[in-house]
Amino acid sequence: MHRLSSRASSISGSATMAVSARAAELRAAGRKVISFAAGEPDFPTPAHIVEAAARASADPRFHRYTPSGGLPELREAIAAGIGSWASEPATSANVAVTNGAKHAVFLACAVLLNPGDEVLLARPYWTTYPDAIKLNGGVPVFIATDEKADYKLDVASLDAALTPRTRAVILGSPGNPTGSVYEPDELRLLAEWADRRGLWVISDEIYDHLVYGDASFVSVPDCYPAIADRCLLINGVSKTYAMTGWRVGWLAGPKDAIRAAINVISHMTSNVANVAQAAALEALVGDQREVDVMRHAFDRRRRTMVDALSGIWGVSCPEPRGAFYCWPDVSAILGHRVVGVDVDTASDLAQVLLDYAQVAVIPGEAFGSPTHLRLSYALSDEDLVEGLSGLHRVLSDVNRPHSHVH
Ligand SMILES: Cc1ncc(COP(=O)(O)O)c(C=O)c1O
Repeated sequence: MHRLSSRASSISGSATMAVSARAAELRAAGRKVISFAAGEPDFPTPAHIVEAAARASADPRFHRYTPSGGLPELREAIAAGIGSWASEPATSANVAVTNGAKHAVFLACAVLLNPGDEVLLARPYWTTYPDAIKLNGGVPVFIATDEKADYKLDVASLDAALTPRTRAVILGSPGNPTGSVYEPDELRLLAEWADRRGLWVISDEIYDHLVYGDASFVSVPDCYPAIADRCLLINGVSKTYAMTGWRVGWLAGPKDAIRAAINVISHMTSNVANVAQAAALEALVGDQREVDVMRHAFDRRRRTMVDALSGIWGVSCPEPRGAFYCWPDVSAILGHRVVGVDVDTASDLAQVLLDYAQVAVIPGEAFGSPTHLRLSYALSDEDLVEGLSGLHRVLSDVNRPHSHVH
């Protein structure tokens, strides 16, 4: 007899949250640590959103439960933003408000998966997907992607992973940790592939507003409307409006799946905090100017980070087109000594950077790739420059292969 369930024992805590927590602990102990670890904007939530929340918190109407699917006005605003669903206007019935987008990922798995059902996903993957699948009885099936293909899935790779147990495919564009952004044609082919085989598509669109250069965002059912009957969208206010702590996201999809998700919410959390929902409503319907200001700042920092990383021996960093992460390949450094310490894995390297450069990064192992690091550029310009110079300093002390020659 095992003491805990096999489901709970099959997962571990979020590695990205753990590194952020470690950086915060070191800071609390008085050490200066610059964190490239967090997946959250450094900006405060825009003032008009905070003011809407303050007004709501003083109004007894917002001191109560909301319906489990969310505040009706918020669901309507989300539906209006989605536009149409299966060639009809999207309505509140297509939307459930969730405790952040992470909860929406969990609910998508909860309403789709039976024990043993397989879910296809690209590796590197966002750290939560495999565990959300496993917690709901499913089996993650990883499909390796590489830098040459900009870390994107294609139909041939999906075909090779298909089995009679395949139930769904997770797509994420812009992607975390790679920052890769699919073109509309690429998404259309993948959705069509899933549709022909009767599979569901779970499309994580949480970074929809964060695309740069010539990249543009398109939602999966807008690329291929026929998938709407078997498509679930994940989204929320966390990244776009610098609202990670407010915990408001949503799951959108066909009405039967959304009804099932709301049933789960009704037993699990009842509803998302009422005041936070009022804030999210203001985020969606209020002034949008700060979204652009933040995006421009991320874009500038993105270029600063890519330039700095590309100048370091052993680090190869393609330019990410979306989200707010760089995903450098550090495999050339592995197997060497850095500041005198043996570094065999990305985790070893992350530890050295924390100890000797006072810089927190997430080792690629958290995303299924032991040869990469993930660095968020959602931090202040000053910290960004200081952190990158610390990183540069430590990584210039690598006993490179050619240093053995003479
Ligand atoms: C790809 C992806 N999906 C979902 C989430 C979850 O967002 P939220 O903070 O709204 O739960 C994140 C956050 O890191 C993410 O990177």
